[in-house]
Amino acid sequence: MNTLRGTFDEDAELYDRMRPHYPAALVTELAALSGLTSRSRVLEVGPGTGQLTVALAEPGCELTAVELGPSLAAVARRNLRGFPRAHVEVSPFEEWTPPPDPFDLVVCATAIHWIDPARRFTAAADALRPGGTLAIVTTHHVAGGSEEFFAQAQRCYERWDPATRPGVRLSDEASMNTVFGELEHPPWDGPVRVGRHAREITYTAEQYLDLLMTYSGHRDLAPGARNGLLACIRALIEKHHGGRITKRYLHELLTVRRGA
Ligand SMILES: C[S@@+](CC[C@H](N)C(=O)[O-])C[C@H]1O[C@@H](n2cnc3c(N)ncnc32)[C@H](O)[C@@H]1O
Repeated sequence: MNTLRGTFDEDAELYDRMRPHYPAALVTELAALSGLTSRSRVLEVGPGTGQLTVALAEPGCELTAVELGPSLAAVARRNLRGFPRAHVEVSPFEEWTPPPDPFDLVVCATAIHWIDPARRFTAAADALRPGGTLAIVTTHHVAGGSEEFFAQAQRCYERWDPATRPGVRLSDEASMNTVFGELEHPPWDGPVRVGRHAREITYTAEQYLDLLMTYSGHRDLAPGARNGLLACIRALIEKHHGGRITKRYLHELLTVRRGA
């Protein structure tokens, strides 16, 4: 895990260009549930280049983001240059020491699975004030969009990626249900609330291959296998799907308060 989680930093500009920001409705829901204002103190874990961070900074809050990758952090700082109260620190979250003043909100977007499971929620609770909010955003690729393309692409993965399980299909979004059992117990004042936000994005073949190169599993493939996989997917999009495909995403927004 420690090697794979470093792959995002290998091409921070590509990550910045290709990874989508979050839907406005998700940001509005997060702000309403956590009472986000200019007076809030916010901590984000694993901000990448600021896919959620920029929207979090909009109300003018004091924001600290802790990012593992120095190149990602540099691009995030560039994206946050209009927000003087937003700062990015470079560190693994597990080794970061929070300041004495606790945070009102701790956020982690599409990054919680990269943080040590033994430490991630205790470290978040240590950084939060009693009554403060923990918000976790998860991102899933679900059935929908260009379904036929994704079924055909499975054959490219079976041929080129040794980690591919045979016959895998995209999950229906109704069956997606992220649960972190630790959050149902003190110091968390459950139950965990879950909001769901689906959206679709259309990509040209070129854009889709660029997007794939922001995923750790694709970056980690041996060069020969990766080139074979990307060529197979490009051929599918260009020859059989008119040069464009649509991917459906489901974001879950899990929120829970820290008890007293
Ligand atoms: C999939 S990316 C998500 C980035 C961004 N939040 C987004 O929504 O696109 C995971 C991010 O977590 C960072 N990361 C991974 N492990 C980390 C750790 N232990 N501490 C801090 N950041 C970490 C990675 O460098 C990367 O920026």
